[in-house]
Amino acid sequence: MSDKKTGILLLSHGSRLDDGEEVIKAYKEMYLEEFPEMPVEYGFMEIRKPGIPETIKKLTEENDLDKIIVVPVFVAHGLHTKRDIPGLLGIESDYEDEGHGHHHHHHHDHDDHDHHHGHHHHHHHDHDEEPVEFDGEIVLTDPLGIDKRMYEIIKDRVSEHL
Ligand code: NI
Repeated sequence: MSDKKTGILLLSHGSRLDDGEEVIKAYKEMYLEEFPEMPVEYGFMEIRKPGIPETIKKLTEENDLDKIIVVPVFVAHGLHTKRDIPGLLGIESDYEDEGHGHHHHHHHDHDDHDHHHGHHHHHHHDHDEEPVEFDGEIVLTDPLGIDKRMYEIIKDRVSEHL
């Protein structure tokens, strides 16, 4: 029987602003409050530190893990969850680039959500910094998705302004 544990990585997109870190950090603390024995960290897929490799390094240095569950705290699947994050984690992805049939996560189109910055092209290369070093199992879960609990929040946001 193994004494090895399961670690948890709460993964946020990453931003230059602090708001996203406040949110993901609060979720980490809420999780720890409920499950104080669980190794849990938060990290960012790009733009902000800590990134994926360093967060996994921290989890594995502090704990004897044979499995890491990565939860992308994103609303829905997209290229990041289907292609980029599996690439960064070094795990299989079912994403296939049109016409190529293989994955290349370095080619990251960021215009969709970063177009208000005129100087954001460098962070894509963060991806290539260091590979994830972990010989256990890495599980990437679904994003938050369609859930009545999310719908309740949407209703709250509307009703605050009615
Ligand atoms: Ni992005």
